[in-house]
Amino acid sequence: MRKKIVAGNWKMNLNRKAAFQLIETIDSLKFSNNVEVIIAPPSIYLESFLGKVKNFNISSQDVSANDNGAYTGEFSAAMLSSLSLKYSIVGHSERRLYHGETEEMIFNKAKQLLKSNMSPIYCCGELLEDRKSENHFKVVASQLQPLLDNLNSDELEKFIIAYEPVWAIGTGLTAKPSDAQDMHSYIRALIKEKFSSSIADQISIIYGGSCKPDNAKELFSMEDVDGGLIGGASLDADSFSAIINSF
Ligand code: 13P
Repeated sequence: MRKKIVAGNWKMNLNRKAAFQLIETIDSLKFSNNVEVIIAPPSIYLESFLGKVKNFNISSQDVSANDNGAYTGEFSAAMLSSLSLKYSIVGHSERRLYHGETEEMIFNKAKQLLKSNMSPIYCCGELLEDRKSENHFKVVASQLQPLLDNLNSDELEKFIIAYEPVWAIGTGLTAKPSDAQDMHSYIRALIKEKFSSSIADQISIIYGGSCKPDNAKELFSMEDVDGGLIGGASLDADSFSAIINSF
């Protein structure tokens, strides 16, 4: 059975007081045992949250592609791992768009995480023009190619894949559940072709892009949608908990 996962990506939101209030509220909620809940707060809060929460995992939103050294402002996978963090998001479209991250950089970040025995939450997803020109499958396949070409199955098993169509992020537009299903099953087929069906069946593929309490149930009911990576709706405890309880 694949893990069901709901992860909240807070992005660059919430000052200290609001962030601590929200994390405490979420930690006091009861979730069903078979959903893994992950929160990715701004990195400045990571260490203090780690000592605080009991009911879910904490993730970084990003990590350096480098080992250590003169990289002002960055932090390494080894540093994250020394805090006992298990997860980091990599390749979010906002990092690709605003920070010029390339496939190579993103894959190097994932490799750094693997080296520190952490799990990448690896984001992929097409732009609106890719979907309009019906290139969305091709674009997502090319984003996942480095994983398929360079990893062994033990390494790939550590990944969570997040399909986030860029046109759906923060826009209120959501992929139709059937479109999400088509892409998730396509991604699973790519893994099956390169590895095996047992590996493909194990890897959780989660959906992100305006996932809200009113559409989560339908999205999560799709066979290959194993949960969500939630932006805006993860900043409100009621909405986030409703999404977690949508399986
Ligand atoms: P929204 O849920 O705000 O569309 O953001 C999705 C996202 O980018 C999660 O990483």
